[in-house]
Amino acid sequence: MGRILVTHLLPEGGTDPLSQAGHELVDGFGDAPCSASDLAALAPQFDAIVCLLTDPINSEVLVSGASGRLKVVGNVAVGYNNIDVETANRLGIAVCNTPGVLDETTADLAFLLVLSASRLASDASRDLLAGRWQGWGINQYLGRDVHGSVLGLVGFGRIGRAMERRARGFAMTVLHHSRHTTGAPGYVADLDDLMKASDVVSLHVPLTDETRHMIGGRQLRLLGRDGVLVNTSRGPVVDEAALAEALADGTIFAAGLDVYEEEPKIHPALLDAPRAVLLPHIGSATRATRTRMARLACEGVCQVLAGSEPENLVRLDA
Ligand code: NAP
Ligand code: GLV
Repeated sequence: MGRILVTHLLPEGGTDPLSQAGHELVDGFGDAPCSASDLAALAPQFDAIVCLLTDPINSEVLVSGASGRLKVVGNVAVGYNNIDVETANRLGIAVCNTPGVLDETTADLAFLLVLSASRLASDASRDLLAGRWQGWGINQYLGRDVHGSVLGLVGFGRIGRAMERRARGFAMTVLHHSRHTTGAPGYVADLDDLMKASDVVSLHVPLTDETRHMIGGRQLRLLGRDGVLVNTSRGPVVDEAALAEALADGTIFAAGLDVYEEEPKIHPALLDAPRAVLLPHIGSATRATRTRMARLACEGVCQVLAGSEPENLVRLDA
């Protein structure tokens, strides 16, 4: 049976697939963060690493692991931009992630951001908590209607499609953009066209070299002064400095963010920006979903160690 490094504490029951299969589990860093060097030092002693999206599984870690017995990395996240998958593939180390089990939970949170940013919930709540609210006013906190507006989805995979289902209940018109034509109604081949045509744009792409800073000043100007931007994908998909400026000068109406360029640091201009709802990367954060994620990552690890190919194996062309 294998020896598995579980880098951080997982939700209760999350590692059951590994223990039920008889593997030896070793706790890594508890709740403390760890660096690539920390991981590289341990990697050769393990058959598998079960890690989080905050763990940098870079070439240093993978090369070190491959010099020992490392065969598989199970990421307890669907996004795998923290892992150098190309190097892993080259070294024959499999990578698994958690597709599918967090779509509805993450879309719930993204839709919460659509609603709360459009209706200026953060500014209003901040004023109330700070004792600045003097009573109902007819011109206070005038937001944008969500119902009946146009939602532009950038990325129309599992979570993007879950957003579309929610938008139907709000009588929204839904457009979507991705590199490959989807054949579904509402497909827009050109991102600029989607930005121009949408009232609210919500991002659901993975972080890759192509999507880094996909949304900058130019795209925000196309979204326009009544537009709302929501990002639950990965922080670097948006140029944060440009976004903060666009909020400050009214280039766009509002933004709702769950992810940031340099988590856990937040761009200081964003902290001061008006009409911004800022959440601390909690898209998949429900007990049930986080447990499902941990179990799925561990199931993938078990299957690789048993010599089979799991459905949640990350393929570079995926
Ligand atoms: P998915 O099913 O793989 O969908 C990704 C979509 O993005 C596809 O439609 C893909 O279509 C499109 N895409 C990829 N590269 C693109 C590009 N360069 N330009 C335009 N479209 C592009 O992924 P998912 O499961 O929905 O997850 C999406 C991302 O959400 C994850 O990678 C993760 O980073 C993030 N996420 C965040 C949270 C959170 O807690 N905030 C939770 C879960 C997931 P094409 O390949 O045709 O372009
Ligand atoms: C969360 O951000 C994930 O990618 O699962």
